[in-house]
Amino acid sequence: MTSATAIAHPNIALIKYWGKADETLSLPATGSLSMTLDVFPTRTTVTVGEGAAVGEGAAVGEGAAVGEDAAAGTGAAESADRDTLQLNGRPATEGELARVTKFLDLVREFAGDTRPAAVVSENTVPTGAGLASSASGFAALATAAAAAYGLDLDTRDLSRLARRGSGSASRSIPGGVAIWHAGDDAASFSETVAAPPLAMVIATVDAGEKPISSREAMRRTIATSPFFPAWIPSTAASLELMVAACAAGDFTRIGELTESNALRMHAVIQGSEPPIRYLTAASTRVFDVVAGMRAHGLEAYSTADAGPNVVVLTRPEDAAAVAATLSAEAGIAEPVIALPGPGAYLVGAGS
Ligand code: PMV
Repeated sequence: MTSATAIAHPNIALIKYWGKADETLSLPATGSLSMTLDVFPTRTTVTVGEGAAVGEGAAVGEGAAVGEDAAAGTGAAESADRDTLQLNGRPATEGELARVTKFLDLVREFAGDTRPAAVVSENTVPTGAGLASSASGFAALATAAAAAYGLDLDTRDLSRLARRGSGSASRSIPGGVAIWHAGDDAASFSETVAAPPLAMVIATVDAGEKPISSREAMRRTIATSPFFPAWIPSTAASLELMVAACAAGDFTRIGELTESNALRMHAVIQGSEPPIRYLTAASTRVFDVVAGMRAHGLEAYSTADAGPNVVVLTRPEDAAAVAATLSAEAGIAEPVIALPGPGAYLVGAGS
């Protein structure tokens, strides 16, 4: 029995990933760039070959070697059926387990191992923070699963692996500000880039489930939005400008590019048929309040993912003032301040 535990944090993109070039390999249509947060870690433990924990029988017992499994006729698909998944202290739904098993099948294929795993994951995003957890979730799962199945992957290969679980998870593998490159399977990885000090203030306007998943919405956007063909070169150009602004430490330019890229992403999404609209009146109100801050010399810029919540980019020394203004003028109950966080890391592994 081998066990590994990893921690990873969510990330928020300044230049967004929206649209796949290849669904199976989870290759993005364009590169993107994000800041990994230092709040809301996910902690995931993967235990391989824990026959008892995965339930019925002992067909794949503790310490069973790959060859023995094969000899006993235990194929990958069959053993994979017996992965178990606990999420925040409750058994996962069938859908959640299927997604994790699909990801573990990939790890097992790379490792030449057929044993199932018991996965236990704790997400510390408070219910109601309105932040997606797939990035931290799959970054932590990739890191823990690779170690538990004995794969020795560097940051680059780990980010390629995490990408297969959820595209944005690729960017939670390296720490701080990370670029995720578009390209083929080998070239589409994430790495940290130099950037000036940044902070984000998370403004939750609605903690509910989003009406349509990003996966589904991306498909519909590609298939039906007449603006999608324009989104690709526009985002590629913004990414180049963003990388240059980060290297130059030009906070104002970083902020301007962040807000315009977010609005362009929502425009291309809204161009889908039937239309998808993630931003609500409350979201727009936050964009207006943030524009008002700028007009009064408090430099801050808005962005929003596939949901109504808004994340405000600012300088670390201005974050408290931004949070206070969001509370006072946009009615945000508890804005959360985040600084750049660490990449995914192992906290324990052993047999
Ligand atoms: O990888 P996913 O399915 O979580 O997609 C992420 C999409 C956005 O959050 C909207 C943009 C991004 O780059 O994170």
